[in-house]
Amino acid sequence: MTGTQDAKQIKIFDTTLRDGEQSPGASMTLEEKLRIAEMLEDMGVDVIEAGFPIASNGDFESVREVAKIIDKSIICGLARSGLKDIDRAWEALTHAKRPRIHTFISTSPVHMKHKLQMSPEEVLEAVVESVTHARNLCGDVEWSAEDATRTEWDFLCKCVDAAIRCGATTINIPDTVGYATPEEYGKLIADLIATIPNSDKAVFSTHCHNDLGLAVANSLAGIANGAGQIECTINGIGERAGNAALEEIVMALQVRGDRMPYATGVVSQQLTAASRLVSNATGFPVQYNKAIVGKNAFAHESGIHQDGMLKHTETYEIMTPESVGVHQSSLVMGKHSGRHAFRKKIEEMGFDLGPNAIQDAFVRFKELADRKKQIYDEDIVALVSDEMLRGQEKIRLVSLAVVAGTKGPQQATLSLDVDGEVRDTTATGNGPVDAIFNAIHELYPHQANLQLYQVHAVTEGTDAQAEVSVRLEQNGKAVTGQGADPDTLVASARAYVNALNRLLVKRDKTAPVALTATV
Ligand code: KIV
Ligand code: ZN
Repeated sequence: MTGTQDAKQIKIFDTTLRDGEQSPGASMTLEEKLRIAEMLEDMGVDVIEAGFPIASNGDFESVREVAKIIDKSIICGLARSGLKDIDRAWEALTHAKRPRIHTFISTSPVHMKHKLQMSPEEVLEAVVESVTHARNLCGDVEWSAEDATRTEWDFLCKCVDAAIRCGATTINIPDTVGYATPEEYGKLIADLIATIPNSDKAVFSTHCHNDLGLAVANSLAGIANGAGQIECTINGIGERAGNAALEEIVMALQVRGDRMPYATGVVSQQLTAASRLVSNATGFPVQYNKAIVGKNAFAHESGIHQDGMLKHTETYEIMTPESVGVHQSSLVMGKHSGRHAFRKKIEEMGFDLGPNAIQDAFVRFKELADRKKQIYDEDIVALVSDEMLRGQEKIRLVSLAVVAGTKGPQQATLSLDVDGEVRDTTATGNGPVDAIFNAIHELYPHQANLQLYQVHAVTEGTDAQAEVSVRLEQNGKAVTGQGADPDTLVASARAYVNALNRLLVKRDKTAPVALTATV
């Protein structure tokens, strides 16, 4: 829990599974979404936006399955203002203990004219019709004015007023294009609350995008001016530059409760695990200097800083690493550690693996312990996350031998298991990684283009595990795969194969019909 005792309670609405998943390349499987939803609930998130049910069957299924397993958090499904959208969202929420329908329509001149091709009168009518319909189905209805920060003031007031009169219980004011400044956004929230006659009948909510890097500052300005809910995502993922980062909001309120007397129900000690889980599921690495959850967020490199820290931690530390769930890198296990100790360790780290996955992870741990002298927490995290990604793969790496070095040609002899059939080949390439990717291509022909290949070391030292990210794109769908191994080339093959598997399961995210309010 964050904040001081008599602080105002702010609801945290997490949209990692909806707006977060809309980032190009950030697709997640159903299993990953379920694991993330469980973690968000455990962490104390108030509302989980689980998807946009009409967008695809996959989205519908995600919302329905998340709704089945979550008890405490409110589960929210997004819908445009068309009645079919709202009905589909409601159908997906059938099993939710605490359902919420979130319906939206654009209200800015540019969106109404070019995206919706609707007049302001038609949009206002759609607000009335959609909120009334949603409210007849569900007692908890959120209404959003998409592109609210570029909407004309009088028209925004009319729409918000209509939505509240028709029964919306939450009014969301998105800064859809990340254009607002904190002062401006805070004033918009304050003015709306002061002007709309029934503003006390609804909770006002912030939803800020990060195009100018102001999403968190704008969200905080929103609550300082009366908003009672913040919409955000883990690691700040989301459309374009992303959304306000949940971990930054929670810690800003916790650390600066003296200036911002607001509390959330989020257990801050779980922030790092949540960040890792989302990064592994989406394949999006967390930037090293990312506030709160970046690898360097608590690292002190310069001599002056280290000296200060040794004398007194508060010299350079405004919060402890433990408060966000970071523990000192410790030498955790060695080659003699047994299965029981290994299982206990991964449970302590917050992972929840089935018996088969634990057995596979243990075998890989033993192999790693034979090759690497010291095994740290980070090694276990990389190994277990890698194992979790392997759940339901159609294609699996069986073996790899590579010829690399100055003489050339660089060559990869590779064996893949495709749906139970083992296929082998040898391919050459412009370097060993290219040779590996060519070999995969030969064994599993596909049209995907490589968009990104990135390697980083999990720990220090030349025997560190390499963690590789590979992004593939096919027909406008982008996915990111990851692989970890002390051998960079094996990690590269695993990452490519993982991305291919993701491409195979990635659901079509394109809405079946045009995004207009009359659908
Ligand atoms: O950014 C936005 O406007 C949205 C709405 C759908 C809430 O994500
Ligand atoms: Zn958004």
